[in-house]
Amino acid sequence: MFTDFTAETAPTQTPRAASPPPGAAADWTIDQDWGRFTPEDHRVWDLLFARQQEMLSGRAVRAFAEGLDLLRLSRPGIPELNELNERLLARTGWTVVSVPGLVPDEIFFRHLSERRFPAGNFIRSAAQLDYLEEPDVFHDVFGHVPLLAQPAFADFMQALGREGLRALELGQMHRLARLYWYSVEFGLALEEGELKIFGAGILSSFGESRFSLESEIPHRSSFDIRRVLRTRYRSDAFQACYFVADSLGHLLDDLLTADLLYLYRELENLPDLSPAESLVSASSVRRKNS
Ligand SMILES: [Fe+2]
Repeated sequence: MFTDFTAETAPTQTPRAASPPPGAAADWTIDQDWGRFTPEDHRVWDLLFARQQEMLSGRAVRAFAEGLDLLRLSRPGIPELNELNERLLARTGWTVVSVPGLVPDEIFFRHLSERRFPAGNFIRSAAQLDYLEEPDVFHDVFGHVPLLAQPAFADFMQALGREGLRALELGQMHRLARLYWYSVEFGLALEEGELKIFGAGILSSFGESRFSLESEIPHRSSFDIRRVLRTRYRSDAFQACYFVADSLGHLLDDLLTADLLYLYRELENLPDLSPAESLVSASSVRRKNS
């Protein structure tokens, strides 16, 4: 999980030097202990799943629905990770590991770099279906894992893990976090001319699924890596801007070959942009079918 960014700053999670909580391993993983989830927990998952699957019909990139099917995530109840991992590992070499909550950046990106996705081992309450202080198992598994069943996306996420570790060493986490934020969490992409969702923060949010595609309020502009690296973001509200890839496949190719070290240097003395500023001179992208 990697979504606890303080508004428009570098990600602030638990301090880098923090040691794992009691009961967690050195890499912060814990046993999922699936039997601990109550019937109510499973009911909340099922409610969220049914609602979101209906909402995302025609709104998510095709690869997402394919991933749900490939992993058979539509079975009732919170997925048992051992079982899910058998399918995911066979498909792309990734696994999902349980963590108690937010983890330090270094731990998070090291997991990604080794093809492991950390998932919060708890679920929101039925009274808080739409409000989340920390990413839970629904956000992490439903939002992030289906695309990890796709080889190109799986490779991209591992590369982001390596880039995250490098950004930490270089003091560039604020830039790398923006790239992660505006793609993995809140990315949109065109598919046959239509705007679709691929970011997990949107895929797992009922309200933002519609808002990101259909509202007149946010800005939407073409995905330009320099702008993305300069654009701050906020984590406490729907996004003020979204960056739109001309296709998910092209974006992954572009990002995998981008020379981030070069870009960090090039952008070093340029001011940050606010989400609204970032779009002023960028070409805007509108939904073809709206
Ligand atoms: Fe996330």
